Amino acid sequence: MSGGKSFGERPEQPVALVTGASGGLGQALAVELDALGCRVAVHYNSSEAAARAVQDKLHNDSVVVTGDVGDYAAVTALYQEVSEKLGPVDVLVNNGAIRKDALMAMQAPEDWAQVIQTNLVGSFHTARAAVPHMLRRRWGRVVNIVSPSGLIATAGQTAYSASKAGLIGFTRTLAAECGRRGVTVNALSPGFMITGMTVDLPDRVKEGMEGKAPIPRFVTVEEVARSMRLFLEQDCMTGQVISIDSGVSIT
Ligand SMILES: NC(=O)c1ccc[n+]([C@@H]2O[C@H](COP(=O)([O-])OP(=O)(O)OC[C@H]3O[C@@H](n4cnc5c(N)ncnc54)[C@H](OP(=O)(O)O)[C@@H]3O)[C@@H](O)[C@H]2O)c1
Repeated sequence: MSGGKSFGERPEQPVALVTGASGGLGQALAVELDALGCRVAVHYNSSEAAARAVQDKLHNDSVVVTGDVGDYAAVTALYQEVSEKLGPVDVLVNNGAIRKDALMAMQAPEDWAQVIQTNLVGSFHTARAAVPHMLRRRWGRVVNIVSPSGLIATAGQTAYSASKAGLIGFTRTLAAECGRRGVTVNALSPGFMITGMTVDLPDRVKEGMEGKAPIPRFVTVEEVARSMRLFLEQDCMTGQVISIDSGVSIT
């Protein structure tokens, strides 16, 4: 059976929305997608200056948008703005996320809920806004940024881990729903990177993480961002978790 008829062509200059493009990895993802010919919507939540600095590095048409991904009304508004200024989104990268670590027995319920709302529900919100167009277009890419914490245990991270493990399940199931219409949905799992999310961790924790990995060094945001080419080019890779994590997820 051939599903080829259901597939559209990759747009010449796809519109890519990168959530949290003001952050460490998001900046590199936006720059890489621009280099791959995309017109990028650079999203931020609170760091407007950082987002504008990212936009300054891009060569193709781009737009800066804001909104809390945990708030569906905010997501529909920012999606509308991207659609009007660049066109509907062909490539969605769910990268924006937070981490609030604490041992579960001592964690405030509102902190736990906020991590799930931002990292997991937020990814549903953006996908809910963008995927209908991709299905109509019969071409689209959803890339969800997950974490080794969604695959292996790290004490103190029940909320973050549950959000990322949930996002892996979301990735696989959405991939099953969208494959016949030429839309792939994959997850990218970076190893430990020095970004705003991790810079404040104590040195002993960072050194412990670096030493634990089979390849005992941190991953750079550029190394992770380079995998965007694979996601854009591959029509038959869907529902996968690609780990660029120095091997930490096999330990
Ligand atoms: N750093 C690591 O070692 C590591 C390892 C594995 C996976 N990851 C994943 O990589 C991704 C990027 O993280 P990072 O390391 O680059 O951290 P980061 O520098 O802290 O960036 C996080 C980004 O998320 C955005 N954000 C925060 N709250 C948001 C909200 N409510 N709505 C929308 N966006 C929001 C932030 O926007 P503003 O700054 O504008 O508020 C920022 O751009 C995350 O999904 C993270 O879980 C990181």
